[in-house]
Amino acid sequence: MKYSFPEEFINKIRESNDLVEVAAEYMTLSKNGDRYRGLCPFHREDTPSFYISAEKQLYHCFGCGAGGNVITFVMNIENLDFIDAIKFLAERSRIPLPQQQFDSGYSRRYKLQEELFRINLEAARFFVNCLTGSRKAKQYLKDRGLDVKTIREFGLGYAPEGWDNLLKYLESKGFTEESIGISGLMSERKSGSGMYDRFRDRIIFPIIDVRGRVIGFGGRTIEEGGTPKYLNSPETPVFTKGNNLYGLNIAKKHTDSGEIIVVEGYMDVISLHQRGIKNSVASLGTAFTPSQGELLKRYSRNIVIAYDSDAAGHSATIKGMDVLQSVGCKVRIIELPDGKDPDEFVRNYGSEAFYELVRKAPSLMDYKIKLLERKYDIRDRQQKFDFLHEAAALLARLDSSLELAEYVKEISQRVQVYESALRKEIETVRNRDKGQNRNIYGKNRHNNSAEEYNIAFRPANIQAEKNILVMAIRDANFRKEITSKIEAEDFEDDLYRNLFKIIKSKYIDEELLPADLVNFFHDQEEINRVVAVIDAELPLDGGEAGKLVEDCIRTIRIHKYKTRGMKLKSEIDRLASKADRTQEEETALEKYWSEFVDIQKNLRGL
Ligand code: CTP
Ligand code: MN
Repeated sequence: MKYSFPEEFINKIRESNDLVEVAAEYMTLSKNGDRYRGLCPFHREDTPSFYISAEKQLYHCFGCGAGGNVITFVMNIENLDFIDAIKFLAERSRIPLPQQQFDSGYSRRYKLQEELFRINLEAARFFVNCLTGSRKAKQYLKDRGLDVKTIREFGLGYAPEGWDNLLKYLESKGFTEESIGISGLMSERKSGSGMYDRFRDRIIFPIIDVRGRVIGFGGRTIEEGGTPKYLNSPETPVFTKGNNLYGLNIAKKHTDSGEIIVVEGYMDVISLHQRGIKNSVASLGTAFTPSQGELLKRYSRNIVIAYDSDAAGHSATIKGMDVLQSVGCKVRIIELPDGKDPDEFVRNYGSEAFYELVRKAPSLMDYKIKLLERKYDIRDRQQKFDFLHEAAALLARLDSSLELAEYVKEISQRVQVYESALRKEIETVRNRDKGQNRNIYGKNRHNNSAEEYNIAFRPANIQAEKNILVMAIRDANFRKEITSKIEAEDFEDDLYRNLFKIIKSKYIDEELLPADLVNFFHDQEEINRVVAVIDAELPLDGGEAGKLVEDCIRTIRIHKYKTRGMKLKSEIDRLASKADRTQEEETALEKYWSEFVDIQKNLRGL
């Protein structure tokens, strides 16, 4: 890929955006010596193997091999191409783009989004002020058991009665009619032109993304029986319902206990929070979407669902739970007593009782089987078969044979069938599903090749090529020594050869910032390997390091001579076995032979 930014500009952008800061906007990092560690956002894992070196400004996942600098991080996590990632980071660090880039579609989109974030923030402030001035609204929240601290933490507000309070306020702040219209805070008049406040006489819940930006609003009616009970912002350029989770901006800071609790409503999140259960998010009134799953799993892979008791068994709800599981989360389900939602539950029984439910929450599989048991009366022979068919279909999807054995044992005992019969049924389902792709986790972007590369047998010379690059990057003196003793052509590995060329042409007399090296590569697999070189563990000091460089140079030379020697040998054999050689062949044979002799001599000298 060719890009049009000057190299210095790209490096400046990279240096102005601290990788640790940027990554922390998307994931939970813990400090670990001079490194930061977290769950890799690019592959599925339960124990963190994703590291960021603040000093080197690089990330590297030891699980999937993903690696890169702040630019590739943004490319992957925001799903942007190189150019857009640069623009994204330029805006983030308020560095103006080189002139000709100004009018691109991306910049226009970005500017609009920034404007909408500002409008939303102003609107949120306006609603907060209105709450302060409304006795009725304050009373409502008080009646619902919320204290001032909680109200402030969630930025709750009140949209007053009347048609244009917010509209006038936003206009007075200098926002254009056009952008106010796009913000979703207004409704269009049905007849003719013009617009009016969408939220009127409602309690306002600002929806804030993980980066702390107000992206939309929910508004609850205050009137008993008012409809709709909740009104939300429509989709806007900064708000997509299915991409966000209410409360994640707060819950992400409270994942020490391990899990995140998913609830249905705004009030559930807030009410739990006030009672010390700060790790809950709401799915914003929709069934869980895959992109919500991807978002959530960056903060925890341990999910507990606490939906209203009437909703929990619905097929749409279960599908949402499957989504979570299929993106790699462990999912457990809380069953709330009849008619209660988490808000009412903690208000009635307190947080200890809720924690108890969390502790006892069955796994998704247990829960589904429980639902089946409720659905069928297994004393009836036909219903017992139906139960077993459905149970087998569920169990067939288990990957772990240990878990499978457990379930088979337990269920067959309970239902009174032979284990072998249930197993046979499961096999039948599996065979039927064969041919279809059973990998529910989908393709992993960074999977395999990097991993395979590490595991695959590596010839000594390739390892040596890597090692001298490691040393060349680390130390300017080695850089000089190595580039004077080795040629690019001596490298067998294409990527290592390119890396060598870059180092040799640019960094002999200049300071080498490892993270800049990444910018010379555009293929993610290549970038992963480059980072693996930069990040390689070769804990050597002075003398040892020098020795290693020497050894590696020798290994590379030996390999070079040997390969050349073998090639010459086979040419020589071919020519020598010919009955009548032309004059040209005769000359070639002689030339090859003397080169071969030289090589043998060189090899003996190494
Ligand atoms: N919801 C919505 N639009 C509606 C109804 C509900 O977006 N018309 C969403 C809201 O996010 C709401 C959630 O679904 O918080 C759960 O709805 P519901 O259970 O009806 O409300 P509660 O959360 O119990 O609200 P409250 O306690 O205020 O009655
Ligand atoms: Mn409720």
